[in-house]
Amino acid sequence: MSFEKEFISSEFPPIEGKVTWASPSNIALVKYWGKYGVQLPQNPSLSFTLSNCVTTTSVAFRPKTSEGFSFSFLFEGEEAPAFHPKMEAFFSRIVDYCPYLLTHELAIESSNSFPHSSGIASSASSMSALALALLSIEQQAGKLGHPEKFNQKASFLARLGSGSAARSIQGPMMSWGKTASISGSSQSFGTVIQENIHPVFTTYQDTILIIDKGQKKVSSTLGHQLMENHPYAAARFEQAHQHVQRLLAIMAEGNLDDFMELVELEALTLHALMMASNPYFVLMQPNTLAVLNKLWDFRRATKLPLCFTLDAGANVHLLYPEANKKAILSFIQTDLANYCQNGQYIEDQIGTGAKML
Ligand code: PMV
Repeated sequence: MSFEKEFISSEFPPIEGKVTWASPSNIALVKYWGKYGVQLPQNPSLSFTLSNCVTTTSVAFRPKTSEGFSFSFLFEGEEAPAFHPKMEAFFSRIVDYCPYLLTHELAIESSNSFPHSSGIASSASSMSALALALLSIEQQAGKLGHPEKFNQKASFLARLGSGSAARSIQGPMMSWGKTASISGSSQSFGTVIQENIHPVFTTYQDTILIIDKGQKKVSSTLGHQLMENHPYAAARFEQAHQHVQRLLAIMAEGNLDDFMELVELEALTLHALMMASNPYFVLMQPNTLAVLNKLWDFRRATKLPLCFTLDAGANVHLLYPEANKKAILSFIQTDLANYCQNGQYIEDQIGTGAKML
């Protein structure tokens, strides 16, 4: 039986209740950029699960008889009709796997731990929190076909909302996308990576510099699409396979120099792909580059293991071991905060995954 079929829940009783989940964001070390079919990745990706950047979502549910989907949505305590089309589209994609969406009405409330419109991608945390809450309805009804596959189905559903959300379910690391390097890896859902991680990485820090709070000028949906006729696509997808394999070995050894080199190469490759798309676009800002140059100067001068990664935006994620936290936070405060919008940055670290509240 295909995983898709296994994930379909059977006859569903009319039940009433409320579930709440807190789910974290994640930061990709090997990037997912390019998709096909229904939200399937062109290459495998690998990420750190975060701890403090979290979306908390509760879903109150009760039986209904009307047709179609019926839901209300409060974001940060206020009606948020702007999110409705995206949620309808998500429900339409997952309704075959969650038929109770048609027989129950939902009152959904969501809030983020990180500042609203900080330019931090919230789709991974928000879609994973919603997927987990919806799946808990199935669990409460005793209708989970494979209870041991709860996390897999949650990741599968989250992926249909936002690809990177597939990697926000568990910690400390997750991969997504079939690769020979990870047994059990799948195109359809993420796989948790818990073993063979050197202790230096288990408490790794991620300080997120808020360079630009603004709405992204180019959505990641369009960016993924532009990989379809991208002249460097084939080489990139092949490179990502190699990078996943190499990074897993580096993570097991605890080799920080190799880690920094590979992670920065991945970040700049992502942005180079954007710059070489047709149409081309640039998401880095002058302050993004200023920070990278400062960081490289600091690393040369101090030999401290500080490196960066970027997601699809101008903000900079600074990655470093917990043991170097004091010196690096002091550098951030004195030298890098000036490049942040309103001096703002968020201190986060590797985390253990989503939690039911
Ligand atoms: O999940 P999406 O469609 O927003 O894509 C995310 C893409 C990157 O954040 C740039 C990379 C990644 O793997 O998370």
